[in-house]
Amino acid sequence: MDEIIIRRPDDWHVHLRDGAMLEAVLPYTARQFGRAIVMPNLAVPVTTSALASDYRRKILKALPDEKAFKNFIPLMTCYLTDETSASDIGQGYADGVFTAAKLYPANATTNSAHGVTNINALNAVFEKMQDIGMPLLVHGEETDPEVDIFDREAVYIDRVLTLLTQKFPKLKIIMEHVTTKDAVDFVRTQKNQVAATITAHHLMLNRNDIFQGGIHPHLYCLPIAKREVHRLALREAATSGDTCFFLGTDTAPHPLSDKEASCGCAGIFTAVNALELYTQVFDEENALEKLEGFTSLYGPTFYGMDLNEGHVTLVREKFRIPGSIPVSDGSSIRPFKAGQTLGWKLKY
Ligand code: DOR
Ligand code: ZN
Repeated sequence: MDEIIIRRPDDWHVHLRDGAMLEAVLPYTARQFGRAIVMPNLAVPVTTSALASDYRRKILKALPDEKAFKNFIPLMTCYLTDETSASDIGQGYADGVFTAAKLYPANATTNSAHGVTNINALNAVFEKMQDIGMPLLVHGEETDPEVDIFDREAVYIDRVLTLLTQKFPKLKIIMEHVTTKDAVDFVRTQKNQVAATITAHHLMLNRNDIFQGGIHPHLYCLPIAKREVHRLALREAATSGDTCFFLGTDTAPHPLSDKEASCGCAGIFTAVNALELYTQVFDEENALEKLEGFTSLYGPTFYGMDLNEGHVTLVREKFRIPGSIPVSDGSSIRPFKAGQTLGWKLKY
């Protein structure tokens, strides 16, 4: 197969940031994907429907003035805190501002200091979300400093998610960016209620890659890449045709100077070649016929949305990933696999 045509995909997990960074990264997502679930972890987190409306307006304004970008729909999320009110969440969802709510355990990752410290404080919010069918997106990592960084996802499943699914059996949960076999197994046993997004980078990296011949800050993200056995479990899940696994890049741009620093930020910027990266993985797994389900069908189905109109075409063609993406404030961002060659190219 040298050409593959799939229904236009969606990205169920992106960081678009704001200001100059938003302008630099948005076109890459908007030209490949019909819709994207936009993460709310800005420096001032998107905690209310008023802030989400504002942010959505900024995103739409930042779209390039060309037809190829104009059909893109940003889907907004609410950043949950210990103070989130069930009625604001319900109203924001009813008004079509919020598509989902995002649970960051406090201090689990970038800009999560205002996240949830006490999950029981949110019982009324989860009750409401369960009633109205609003999905809960979870950054599933235990933040107890005693827990080893490589075990945080598995421990979070045991300590939090298992109980949450029992307490709110009708609450739709999406475990974001799963990185372990433990998560794949958990999602499969709960698949009527729980789904998971899988990033391209977690399909391509194991933890050795981060330290191969020296430390590679551009391969550092959270949850951190795990052992090879886990990467293989993710590849199996993504290419299995199981409808509980779908595309979410977690593309997370940071200025180069924030990555290449004595304390570098977590985040891998995959938006530039997102679809091509996934296609390469599916090709390596001899599973190109399973690509469209993962990229374009299972996500909207779990969210209860229509499929996108239109299609995109990928061709087998070698090309080089750019080394750097400029930002108008003078900074730059380094794409995942910068300067390396990929074997599938999206036709524009
Ligand atoms: O690596 C990550 N970067 N993981 C996250 O959960 C957040 C993200 C970011 O916002 O940079
Ligand atoms: Zn993320």
